[in-house]
Amino acid sequence: MPDLTTQTGRHDALIDTLPRDFRWGTATSSYQIEGAVNEGGRTPSIWDTLCRVPGAIDGGDNGDVACDHYHRMPEDVQLLRSLNVDTYRFSVAWPRVQPTGRGPVNPEGIGFYDRLVDELLANNITPWLTLYHWDLPQELEDAGGWPNRDTAYRFADYAAMTYEALGDRVKHWTTLNEAWCSAHLGYYVGVHAPGRKDYGDHISAVHHLLLGHGLAVQRLRGAAEARGREIDLAITHILGNSVPASDSAVDIEAARRADALGFRMYMDPIFKGSYPEDLVADLAVRGIEIPVQEGDLEITSSRIDTLGVNYYRSSMISGTEEDGSEFEPDGAPVTRAVPFGDRPVTYLDWEIMPEDFTSVLGRISLDYPGVPMVITENGAAYNDVPDASGFVEDEERTDYIASHIAAVAAARNNGADIRGYFAWSLMDNFEWAYGYDKRFGIVRVDYETQERTPKASALWLRDTIARVRGGSSA
Ligand code: FCB
Repeated sequence: MPDLTTQTGRHDALIDTLPRDFRWGTATSSYQIEGAVNEGGRTPSIWDTLCRVPGAIDGGDNGDVACDHYHRMPEDVQLLRSLNVDTYRFSVAWPRVQPTGRGPVNPEGIGFYDRLVDELLANNITPWLTLYHWDLPQELEDAGGWPNRDTAYRFADYAAMTYEALGDRVKHWTTLNEAWCSAHLGYYVGVHAPGRKDYGDHISAVHHLLLGHGLAVQRLRGAAEARGREIDLAITHILGNSVPASDSAVDIEAARRADALGFRMYMDPIFKGSYPEDLVADLAVRGIEIPVQEGDLEITSSRIDTLGVNYYRSSMISGTEEDGSEFEPDGAPVTRAVPFGDRPVTYLDWEIMPEDFTSVLGRISLDYPGVPMVITENGAAYNDVPDASGFVEDEERTDYIASHIAAVAAARNNGADIRGYFAWSLMDNFEWAYGYDKRFGIVRVDYETQERTPKASALWLRDTIARVRGGSSA
C-alpha cells in the first residue's frame, strides 16, 4: 500500500484532536448511483427528463445505469464496512416510493430501502437518510414543480409515508439536500433539473422547499413522539462564504447581496423564523416578493436537531460585469462570481481553501448558535488515472480530504459543535450536469464492469478513522 504519511501527515495533529465518538461516514444520492430507472414501479424524475435534453449533460450521460447500486446494494454495504465508517448517508428516490408524487406507497419501491436499512443495521452501520436529493417526480414538475406551493404539501406526505415504513429502524432523517441547488441551479440558472430560468420562480421555489421541510419536520416529529421513538431531524445546506473581489464599495455590496441570496435566505427561515431584511429589499428592486403566507415562517423554523453542512468551496464576488458596468438589463445590480486566481483548484476548477471551511463553520456557530452540525458532504473531483489493477493513487484527493477534516477539527477547537464528517462520495457516480467524467469517489467505479476499487483516499480514511477511534495518539 502507498505510504501517504508524509504528504498528509501535516494534518494529523489537528485530526487527532477529534473525539473518539466522532461520527464518520460516506455519502451518496439515489439518482447518482442507483440506476434501474424503470424498475420496481419507479417513474421518471426531473433528472431523467433533463438527461434527455440534448446538450444538457456533458457527454450526453444519464443515470439509467449509474453505479447499478440498485442491484449491487449488499456488495456496496460490504464496501462501506471495509472502510470503517459507522454511518452511511443515502437518499430515497421519491419516484420509487410514491411514483406520481401523490397517492399510496409503492411497496416495491420502498422495499428497496427497507432492505438497504436492514443490511446497514446488520453490518453495524447507522443509516442517515435524506428524503430529497433532487429527484422530484416528473408529474409534480408538470404540475408546477417547487414554485408551486402544493409541492411542499406533497413532499410532507411523501416524508410521512417514508417514515411510516422505515421510522422503526431509521433515527436520522434529513429533509432536503441543498435547497440552493434545487432552487438556484434548477429554476434560475437552469443547469440542473428541471432546467428552468426564471428569477422569480426560483425565489418561490426556495420558499416552498423550506416550507416543505418544515411541514415534513412537523409530521415526522409528531409521528416519532406518538410512538415514543427518538428522532434526529436535520436539513442539509451547501454553505460557503461570499468574499468581495476587491475592497471597492461596489464589490463589498455585491458580496453582501450574494450572501443574502446564497446563505442567509436558506438559514434564517430555519433558525430565525424570518427572511433577511436586506434580501427582501434586494428582491423588491427586481419587483419580486417571497410568497410567504401567514404562519409559514413558524413552520419553516420548526425545531430541528442537527444542521447538515455540505462544503466544497467559497466564492469571490464582484459587483460589475466584465466590462465594468454595474447593472443588469432589468435594472438590478450585478452579482458575479469570479475566480480567486491564487488558489489551487480541483478538476472542476473549484478552489481549495480549507481555512475558509473553518471560518464558515465558525460563522454558523456564532450566527445560528445552539444546533449541532454534521458535515454531510465534502470531497473533490480529480482526473483519476487507475493503474493496471484499477487502483488509483489519488494523493490530491487524499490531501483535500485530510486538510478539510483538519479544518473541521480546527473549527471544533474554536468552539463549533460539529459531530461528524461524511466524505463525498463513497464511489464515483453520476455528477449531475458534468456526467461521469468528474469523479468524486473515494472508491473507483469501472463503468464497464461495475467493479469497485478503493482508492488511496479510501484507505487513508479507513486508517484515519481507526486511529481517531482508537485514540492511539491522544
Ligand atoms: C453537491 C451535491 C452532490 C454532489 C456534490 C459534488 O452539491 O449535493 O450530489 O454532486 O455536490
